[in-house]
Amino acid sequence: MKRFLPVFAVGMLFLGACGLEKPPAKLEFPESKEEAAAPAETAAPAAAPAAAETPADPKLAAGKTVYETKGCNGCHDAGMMGAPKPGDKAAWAPRIAQGVDVMTKKSIEGFTGKGGMMPAKGGNADLTDEEVASAVAYLASLAK
Ligand code: HEC
Repeated sequence: MKRFLPVFAVGMLFLGACGLEKPPAKLEFPESKEEAAAPAETAAPAAAPAAAETPADPKLAAGKTVYETKGCNGCHDAGMMGAPKPGDKAAWAPRIAQGVDVMTKKSIEGFTGKGGMMPAKGGNADLTDEEVASAVAYLASLAK
């Protein structure tokens, strides 16, 4: 069993290298949910997500990075446990109707809704309120 470990590690290095050299194809959302959910920030900080369509507004662009690199997409892309999917207008309309400020507050503090439980700051206690707010604004902008 142990013998496989080095091979696996080399394989991972290769994957990492490819990711850096090849600019990722244009994506609405990252394909690698597992990768984003895992703490992969150490190897290639923000190199990959930056290439997808980045909103012109710097706040929304920052929010997109938070969404894609801080694990929000781990639940939201898949609609896991009732998390509203990005761009799903029907799911977001009633949330946006309560006001983006309210959504932001709930996302910072965490809440349990009809669908499920949204952890405080998506479970990332190290995120600043501002980072969470930008990610919420980004999500709201996708559903307009
Ligand atoms: C563990 C899974 C999970 C993670 C990680 C997660 N969310 Fe959520 N989120 C949910 C669920 C489930 C809901 C829906 C709860 C409900 O309304 O029933 C939700 C709802 C929301 C809402 C709607 C709030 C409202 O007022 O209706 C926003 C905005 C949101 N999440 C933003 C984020 C952001 C930003 C992140 C990353 C910082 C994040 N989420 C990470 C599960 C998650």
